[in-house]
Amino acid sequence: MDYFEINGPCKLHGKVKISGAKNSSLPIIASTLLSKNGIKITNVPNVKDINTLLDLMEDIGSTFTMNKNQVYINNENINSYKADYNIVKKLRASILLLGPLLARFNKCDISFPGGCAIGTRPVDLHLQALESMGATFKIKNGYIYGAAPNGLFGSEFEFSKKTVGGTENALMAASLAKGKTTLKNVALEPEIEQLCNFLVEGGIEINGIGTNTLEVNGSGGKLLNFKSCEIIPDRIEAGTFLCAAGITNSSITLENINANHIQSVINKLKEVGFTFSFGENSLTINKAKKLSGCNIETLEHPGFPTDLQAQFMALCLNCEGESNVKENLFENRFMHISELNRMGADITVNGNVAHIIGPKNLTGANVMASDLRASSALIIGALIAKGTTNVDRIYHLDRGYENFEEKLSKLGVKISRLRK
Ligand code: EPZ
Repeated sequence: MDYFEINGPCKLHGKVKISGAKNSSLPIIASTLLSKNGIKITNVPNVKDINTLLDLMEDIGSTFTMNKNQVYINNENINSYKADYNIVKKLRASILLLGPLLARFNKCDISFPGGCAIGTRPVDLHLQALESMGATFKIKNGYIYGAAPNGLFGSEFEFSKKTVGGTENALMAASLAKGKTTLKNVALEPEIEQLCNFLVEGGIEINGIGTNTLEVNGSGGKLLNFKSCEIIPDRIEAGTFLCAAGITNSSITLENINANHIQSVINKLKEVGFTFSFGENSLTINKAKKLSGCNIETLEHPGFPTDLQAQFMALCLNCEGESNVKENLFENRFMHISELNRMGADITVNGNVAHIIGPKNLTGANVMASDLRASSALIIGALIAKGTTNVDRIYHLDRGYENFEEKLSKLGVKISRLRK
């Protein structure tokens, strides 16, 4: 099993190129099921979650090539509407095949994705949205069996809570439904906007892109004709590097980013004491005179992203005074705390709020990653720890960060991937 050995403390300097967004690539790849033509998708990060989704697509009959960051996928010969447990268990986002398979075949059998390390993560809202379009579901033997014998038809549906995956599934299904679907209280993440634009390029009329309400004029079963697509920059990877620069009070430049997508994070880093210089597709974080503690609360976009909560908490370890981090989206997203405390951090938890007292002199330790974003938080902590930190179970990190250790090495971090 691979682990990272990091020798700290260190300073970062130089430039880092941000990869394409994993969480945009996944729904874009899933939505190609709505078409039969071959599609080129560029700027796709070569990470485990993408490889797993492509394996799942291949399992149902897709053909694809992945060359560096370019995926070419063809769904002409899909011969199954079953997403098998053995692959779904490795990737919760496999649920994104639900909407497209149901829309294309009026049937789908998808292994129930279940919970994961960060929480129970129900899919009730995905199912409710599709039910409003005429689908019925049975859950049996760990599978979701979906059917829409008369096809999907346009409907009006309001999500009782904002959900990224639920919005994506509903959008993809509505694209092939007969008539107009109005989706209210949809998620506003940039990944949703990219999916909408992709569907529009494929021939679907969607009104309200970027707002709480989307109106989708479905094709009535006619498959779409997609154009090629370039995946947007990964805002979570960008935020992770900002936190790495932040904890070490270093100045680095991020290239290939969209600063609008991480405005909430930039605002919080300004509160800590950092200043920024903005380029066309780049952003430089400048050193702070002093790092001050601050409070964050995770919210749906455009609020502070839950996917950066752990990394920002790590940054707070080097801030003066008390910081408070409130997690509102997932019930079990604090697993990095006990590991950071093993390195000498002073973090206490009260319900869904973590209190951090800083700055602390951290020391290297053996720590264990528990999920994708917790992994990067431990690495960020290790950047100010004196001595050697070994971060175990980095297969979690490999699910979503492309060439993470190469990028950190280029920025001056002493990090090596080793194997036990
Ligand atoms: C997406 O997950 C991301 N994954 C997650 O990224 C991210 O943490 C999350 O959105 C929130 O921003 C992908 O895009 C592939 P949700 P998703 O449905 O779509 C509740 C990462 O590290 N909910 O927006 O599964 C749910 O429990 C990750 O890259 C229901 O109650 O998240 C949560 O509290 C992990 N019923 C909230 O909504 C439902 O049917 C938001 O979840 C669906 C969701």
